Amino acid sequence: MSGVPPIEVTSSSAPVSELDTDLLIVPWGETESVHAVSGLDEAVGGLLRQALTSGEFTGKPYELLLASVVDARWKVRRLMLIGAGRLDGFGPSQLRRVATAAALQCRQRRIGRAAILVRDPVSGAGGPVTGDPRGIALVRAAVEGVTLSEFHTGSFKTSDPPPSPVLQWIVVTGPVPATLAGELERSRILATCTNLAREMANEPGNVLTPIEFANRAAAVADGTGVSVDVLDEARLAKLGMGLLLGVARGSAEPPRMVVFRHDPPDASDAPVLGLVGKGITFDTGGISLKPAEGMDRMKDDMAGGAAVSCAMRAIGLLGAPIRVVGVVPIAENMPGGKAVKPGDVLRSAEGKTVEVLNTDAEGRLILGDALWYARSLGATHLVDVATLTGAIVVALGKGVSGIFGAPDRWVQYVRQVGDAAGDPLWPLPLVDEYRDQLKSEIADFTNTGGRPAGSITAALFLREFAGGRPWAHLDIAGTAWVDEARPYGPKGPSGVAVRTLTELAVAARAWPDVL
Ligand code: BES
Ligand code: MN
Ligand code: ZN
Repeated sequence: MSGVPPIEVTSSSAPVSELDTDLLIVPWGETESVHAVSGLDEAVGGLLRQALTSGEFTGKPYELLLASVVDARWKVRRLMLIGAGRLDGFGPSQLRRVATAAALQCRQRRIGRAAILVRDPVSGAGGPVTGDPRGIALVRAAVEGVTLSEFHTGSFKTSDPPPSPVLQWIVVTGPVPATLAGELERSRILATCTNLAREMANEPGNVLTPIEFANRAAAVADGTGVSVDVLDEARLAKLGMGLLLGVARGSAEPPRMVVFRHDPPDASDAPVLGLVGKGITFDTGGISLKPAEGMDRMKDDMAGGAAVSCAMRAIGLLGAPIRVVGVVPIAENMPGGKAVKPGDVLRSAEGKTVEVLNTDAEGRLILGDALWYARSLGATHLVDVATLTGAIVVALGKGVSGIFGAPDRWVQYVRQVGDAAGDPLWPLPLVDEYRDQLKSEIADFTNTGGRPAGSITAALFLREFAGGRPWAHLDIAGTAWVDEARPYGPKGPSGVAVRTLTELAVAARAWPDVL
């Protein structure tokens, strides 16, 4: 799909000395004893003990120690120890990052084949993991981590192509069940679909116009069994989607709505998971124009839509056991001559009217029509994902997405799935009183509640379109884009929420009884 050569990921429970590969990665926690992995220090001629004693290597997150294997009986000739941080914080989320960091180092060093030793220094006393749930979660995190390193940035650079990824991975474990191969495949799909969403969100607005985004989103479903329907302006008009059409009016580029359906033949009629993602291909703010500074970032205002599209791909490939509909409303928010103006009133497909007080609060408008459409297609449980408010960045920063919704059980469940998937979420309240901030003199409500609690009033707006169904809203305005390069990833789109949405559908049999 993305020009990456096929990458092979296998597992092995053979002793590390027997691995046929170029380099062995060993994540290493702070305060681990030199004996934690038996035979390792001997294999590198005592270098590990030296480095731990001198403080050259302490196991702090992403610290590196490269060593040659001097023991002639070992097949692998090179070792990369990478700091895994404090043991009390060690788990799948930390290992995912450590694995990405190590894999990025391998790419930089042009390593073609590598192995990663998956251990649990906490509950597994340092040995390779076995088939218990935590062991499997660690293996999956390691595979997701190395796969996330394959995302390539700078696709428009005409020189200096990035080094190719590691082409052969061996995941080293202890004895595990035969189903591990399936787990590896699942993790590969989760992370390659995350990378695909990152590629989409990275595309500039002139390339990824609404029509182009719709085409690419539709292509994402190819070969997955997921069906796609792209609604054009005529059909949107027929459905009365005045909110989406209203936002699109200021642009020369017509809007679209991409509708995905995953309908496994043996699935029951309910539940139907409805996934809705904001697809603003560029957000100038419209007539309520944004300041120039940093406006370029608004090319990623479709990150939620990309997350839904790419999650639909993963859901199809993994054969999720329930029905899923994905709805991605797509438009460009521009201040053209026909643009919606402050004070204009729009009518939603559901019939509710909205007084547009700020044309920069466009995301909630297009999501309103999309949530309604997901319901009309039978969605019983809703999750929407959107780069919705600057206020969420003020509240939660860049490391955690906001989650809102009702009932609490549904929200808590989505949160738990997100945390496990490596998309941390933090709940914020839907304060009923604040609904007054959306009161309009002439319409059912306005599209902005002013500065106080901006993320909450945005969520309250969306609630108007959730029809009382279990619904969770993920505000990813802070998390969709990474501002600074880290050892475990470049600056740029994060692919947030792809894994959460996919896991929600794939693990649907574990849903709490909120139906
Ligand atoms: N796309 C923006 C939100 C955003 C801000 C995303 C910063 C990523 C980083 C959204 O459409 C927007 O402009 N929201 C306004 C709402 C306001 C006018 C009520 C905002 O947050 O300022
Ligand atoms: Mn906006
Ligand atoms: Zn926006």
